[in-house]
Amino acid sequence: MTQPKRPAAPRGFSTRAIQAATRTPRVDQRPNAVPIYQAVTFSADDAAELGAITTGAMPGYSYARLANPTGDTLAAAIAELEGAEAGCVFSSGMAAIHAALMSVLQSGDRVVATRAIYGSTRVLLVNRFGRLGVQVDFVDATDLAAVDRALAGSPTRVLYVETISNPTIVVVDVAALAALAHRHGALLIVDNTFASPVLCRPIEVGADLAIESLTKYLGGHSDTLGGSVAGSRERIAEVKAIEIDTGATLAPFAAFLILRGIATLAIRMARHAETARRLAEWLSTQEGVARVFHPDLVSHPQHEVAARQFPHASGMLAFELAGSPVAARAAGGAFIDALTIPERTASLGSIHTIVAHPPTTTHRQYDEAQLAEAGIGAGLLRCSVGLEDADDLIADFAQALDAARAAAAAADASDAARTTERPASVGAG
Ligand SMILES: Cc1ncc(COP(=O)(O)O)c(C=O)c1O
Repeated sequence: MTQPKRPAAPRGFSTRAIQAATRTPRVDQRPNAVPIYQAVTFSADDAAELGAITTGAMPGYSYARLANPTGDTLAAAIAELEGAEAGCVFSSGMAAIHAALMSVLQSGDRVVATRAIYGSTRVLLVNRFGRLGVQVDFVDATDLAAVDRALAGSPTRVLYVETISNPTIVVVDVAALAALAHRHGALLIVDNTFASPVLCRPIEVGADLAIESLTKYLGGHSDTLGGSVAGSRERIAEVKAIEIDTGATLAPFAAFLILRGIATLAIRMARHAETARRLAEWLSTQEGVARVFHPDLVSHPQHEVAARQFPHASGMLAFELAGSPVAARAAGGAFIDALTIPERTASLGSIHTIVAHPPTTTHRQYDEAQLAEAGIGAGLLRCSVGLEDADDLIADFAQALDAARAAAAAADASDAARTTERPASVGAG
């Protein structure tokens, strides 16, 4: 390391201000929290060193879009926790999904994707990659025979699934899907966001790339966006190149927040899961609740897969309010409006409990037939259970269920009144 150059002559105020305000301190002791390297540029000693760092011939930092020490620390942590050789972090989960797909797909390729897929991922695949000549087919990824048939049907580059997904907390068998994909010459890419590496490490059971929206459980506090991809050194080098080329780099402060979240991830997940299981069991006994979807319940369609694959469940559950479609839709809206603790918003994996009623929010424009096709009952509520006290949540859900039952009865009564008022000739023929 050469010494910083000494100025030759006194200088003006601005020159002195810039230099005085950016003179980084020397710290010989290792800090016990990862510093936020809030710097876009890193100076080299000379032009040759800068050239070598920028072209990757020498390790180091030059420009923060290419690499930043806080982000690199997070990427290494992700690799370790996913059981992968390497990791790469992004400005959001969608940026990570885009880079993972972009790193392996080209025009003419085919993707077979799970039907129970996050809406924005479906749009990315169909509208964006579709426009570039990628063919996308959907399959029920819980039905291994159907996946086998889909892969056998035509050459496939990527099988894309989510470990746990909407709307009914669908669980797939990652190891079995990896074996199937590889038998047909396809890669398996897994969005592991709902599970987190605490519950499932897709790379360890054969997946080629594992994606997390770090915005959810790993960040955990609803205060930062982020995404990650983990895999082999060779595959992540390709993913990293997309990150650099598209500028989807994670900001250092966001990386710091996610590192802080990761430190408490396992204990948060255990608490999310315990409270979700208690809520699910309690909901199963309540009048006006038709069905409860939680992997710990033996009634869950993939209970056996979840029990084999995960040490415990996550904080995600769903339940369906009883009644005719009209009554159930009204009940769902009333339930959401009556809640006093859960937030009415659209994310998951946070300290806050978040309850969503897709038929009156994200899927409001769907009619009953479209909702049924998407596997969404008119009274379906999705719940990301937070870290509040279980007894408080149960009490809040109990009073919201009272409101839901009253709304369902009112909707039924007004529907009946409308039917009686109808002139006899309507509907004839
Ligand atoms: C399963 C899943 N994957 C990816 C994403 C996208 O993550 P982000 O919002 O961080 O881009 C989400 C967001 O809700 C999600 O639920």
